[in-house]
Amino acid sequence: MSLKGARERWVRTGGIELCVAEMGDATQPTVLLVHGYPDSKEVWSEVAERLADRFHVVLYDVRGHGRSTAPAPLRGGFTLEKLTDDFLAVADAVSPDRPVHLVGHDWGSVQSWEFVTVKRTEGRIASFTSMSGPSLDHFGHWIKKRMSRPTPRRVGQLLGQGAKSWYVYMLHTPLLPELAWRGPLGRQWPGILRRMERLPGGDYPTPSQPQDAAHGTWLYRDNVRARLRRPRSDAYAHAPVQLITPTGDIFLSERLYDELDEWAPQLTRRSLPAKHWVPRTRPDQLSSWISEFVLANENNAAGVAGRETVARGPYAERFGGQLVLVTGAASGIGRATAFAFAEAGARIVAVDRDAEGAARTAEMSRLIGAPEAWGEAVDVSDEQAMEKLAGKVATEYGVVDVLVNNAGIGLAGSFLQTSTEDWRQVLDVNLWGVIHGCRLFGRQMAARGQGGHIVNTASAAAYQPSKSLPAYSTSKAAVLMLSQCLRAELAAQGIGVSAICPGFVNTNITSTARFAGVDAKEEERRQRKSARMYGLRNYPPEKVADAILRAVVKNQAVVPVTPEARGAHFISRFMPRTLRAIARLEPPL
Ligand code: NAI
Repeated sequence: MSLKGARERWVRTGGIELCVAEMGDATQPTVLLVHGYPDSKEVWSEVAERLADRFHVVLYDVRGHGRSTAPAPLRGGFTLEKLTDDFLAVADAVSPDRPVHLVGHDWGSVQSWEFVTVKRTEGRIASFTSMSGPSLDHFGHWIKKRMSRPTPRRVGQLLGQGAKSWYVYMLHTPLLPELAWRGPLGRQWPGILRRMERLPGGDYPTPSQPQDAAHGTWLYRDNVRARLRRPRSDAYAHAPVQLITPTGDIFLSERLYDELDEWAPQLTRRSLPAKHWVPRTRPDQLSSWISEFVLANENNAAGVAGRETVARGPYAERFGGQLVLVTGAASGIGRATAFAFAEAGARIVAVDRDAEGAARTAEMSRLIGAPEAWGEAVDVSDEQAMEKLAGKVATEYGVVDVLVNNAGIGLAGSFLQTSTEDWRQVLDVNLWGVIHGCRLFGRQMAARGQGGHIVNTASAAAYQPSKSLPAYSTSKAAVLMLSQCLRAELAAQGIGVSAICPGFVNTNITSTARFAGVDAKEEERRQRKSARMYGLRNYPPEKVADAILRAVVKNQAVVPVTPEARGAHFISRFMPRTLRAIARLEPPL
């Protein structure tokens, strides 16, 4: 397996030859990528390729891995002190005059924590991005704290992480791990990664993997027990740290990082819904977060005011830098949702058939905190226009990470008074608009293969029948079912789908909703009346927006919002007859 366009060289240190690969322009800031266990530098190939456009990217095979030579004897050859010697030798060879931006995954992160917390590397590290690999010192203190002052919660956390660390105990047994890796486990590893971690096929892992895994057992044996027993008490990071936590990591609990701010005072947190091997499964997201962090710290060092990278708001660590497209973004729930994502630092595409309104939302989004925001005037029911939009977004802004199909219109009136044209209008926007969005942007997400999320705004009307809203309710019931079918289909690709079901929310929908079968004057009277009623209810769209962001973070399937929507949802499940009886009552409108 090759690292495209890489220049290879050898760095000699303490009797070891380290195989070092360099990519990109050597005059640019150096980003040094350190691989984990059981891997070699090629685990970074996708991330390195993306970073090489802007940075001097350096990767090396850790001693005993890939094409680097192994210490003899192996025992005692993998201590964190020796690994730090290797790091300094590589950093001095590739970037003698400027500190490097360090990035580590798994054991690459464990050892990088050592590099960034020991005195002798001070001034050599400009920033550190850590993923799926805690400092053994911090881990040791984390355990001690929970053992010395146990509470039921702390004991639960200890047991939880203890169960996730089963493989660490196994790796401490003599000889067996080596035999397994060089035998059946090594042969089956690529298949295991594909099944358990959903890694795409291709030329990773490399042929050296069984050998890497066998040698790498000494990383654990030489360090883990000793450090966890006697963790250093001065393991403070001397460079800014970005912590990226995959929330579906089966080896590490998120709780491990609860007290990290004490050790890393300049800490930026990021989280993403993914499993352990993020350099393989989420290269776009990683390279974008690494780039942003590196550039911000370069600017800081140069005294240039750059964009703030410290997470803002409760959702910033999840959505910072992500591309979010919201339809119906000129007003009400869509506008509030665009603003909530903007506040979390996402890049926004605000889509609406109201061009001016979409542009206004984009402008406000930038003021609120979106690094970039664009307004797009599109009618979601127009298939061709949606196709054009999908093409434009993909080429100009990238693949959408979160899609919110929210545009919708209201229509009231009994079934017998609802004309075919009325039906067509409401289904075209409320259902077809959602179908087009899911199909076009869902396809792009699936093709990229790096996950994503789709939110569809349904309504409590989706599960609450009423004799006054047959067309609207039918359109929303279809959206609810479509969302659940799609959720089942896309789960295997790491794409979540949520249906949001609000009750009465105070937006413009009441003054634009149509009333079938009545003259213009009567329609206006009813619109005013319903606007008054919704105004009295006064449930703000911002709360629905908050529920939407939460639904994405928690990957919730169906989310009733407002107490009446939650109540109706409960009744629809356990007392559906009651809802059917209520459906017969005269509507208040
Ligand atoms: P709103 O009327 O304030 O906003 C809807 C936005 O969608 C408007 O900016 C409008 O221009 C846009 N839009 C309408 N048709 C479009 C089309 N064909 N193409 C592009 N944009 C279009 O209404 P609200 O309340 O914010 O509604 C948002 C969604 O929430 C809708 O799907 C609605 O059905 C749903 N909903 C609203 C509830 C409420 O009480 N307000 C309750 C339950 C669901």
